[in-house]
Amino acid sequence: MKYNKNLSWRRVDSASLDLKGTKVAVVGGTGGLGRAISRLLASRGASVTVVGQTFRDSGVPGIEFLQADLSLMSEAQRVAAALPAETLDLVVLTTGIFAAPTRQETAEGIERDMAVSYLSRLVLVRGIAPRLGRQRPTARTKPRVFIMGYPGIGQTGTLDDLNAEKSYRAMPVHMNTVAGNEMLVIDSAKRYENANFFGLNPGVIKTNIRSNFLGEGTLRFRFTEWMIGLLAPSAEAYAETVTPLLVTPDLEGHSGAMFDKKGLAILPSAGLRDDHVRAFLADSEALVARANVRVS
Ligand SMILES: NC(=O)c1ccc[n+]([C@@H]2O[C@H](COP(=O)([O-])OP(=O)(O)OC[C@H]3O[C@@H](n4cnc5c(N)ncnc54)[C@H](OP(=O)(O)O)[C@@H]3O)[C@@H](O)[C@H]2O)c1
Repeated sequence: MKYNKNLSWRRVDSASLDLKGTKVAVVGGTGGLGRAISRLLASRGASVTVVGQTFRDSGVPGIEFLQADLSLMSEAQRVAAALPAETLDLVVLTTGIFAAPTRQETAEGIERDMAVSYLSRLVLVRGIAPRLGRQRPTARTKPRVFIMGYPGIGQTGTLDDLNAEKSYRAMPVHMNTVAGNEMLVIDSAKRYENANFFGLNPGVIKTNIRSNFLGEGTLRFRFTEWMIGLLAPSAEAYAETVTPLLVTPDLEGHSGAMFDKKGLAILPSAGLRDDHVRAFLADSEALVARANVRVS
């Protein structure tokens, strides 16, 4: 990972943030890192809509729930239409799983990790981006979209078999979701001038993300997460670090920037040239179209 020395931002303590009136959607805000960020944003006065399968914060002031199974492109399309994009100040995309040891396919015929961790985000971004900012007449900064994944580590993705039908191995499939999310940031920053797009790389943190790969509740999963818990900061500690970044005015004019687990600006992966990004996104759109969902 290489650092971007030309971009820095003024850090403040998350406890000093006054987010009354800030409207947020966290897609994937029901669990893990998205949930920790949602709870912190709400505790500072923001109105947060969390999208996911299972609501764990009923009764928490400032958090509302929109239920969706984002393994389905039709559901991602429905969520995009349901979100009040015109008035949102901040959108954070944290939905994700890890590819399973043997290939899983959704009811729409798409490999499950690609569907949940990347393609649902493509559908969401294309669905909400044109409407972002339309009803924020007094806002001083553009609305912003943060896409969480693992950017900046050199993953460029492998074209031609995005649905992993010719061959399947969990790690390369997951790396295609990593590359896809980084390319979604790069492409969106160029495509939409009405909003700013950023990438987030949280590093490794103890959550539920590896359960599909290691087996939910297995000894292997519990031991791995226990070890990660010993070595890495908690989801809540990461939220304390990253939440001031999400709302700092210092990012204005830096659409396309990416940040590491400490909120330091990092450079995009080498090799993500314009022609490669275009080809990868065209393949991604074609895969989404198999679910009878068109993205433009
Ligand atoms: N934790 C790490 O070590 C790590 C490392 C690198 C990158 N990341 C990235 O960080 C992001 C957040 O991951 P995390 O660690 O917070 O994972 P997590 O604890 O497993 O949380 C994932 C979120 O995605 C939602 N989700 C999963 N499947 C869904 C589906 N079919 N429909 C709707 N929502 C679904 C979950 O909601 P429900 O529980 O309601 O289903 C949950 O809110 C991901 O982009 C991941 O790639 C994490």
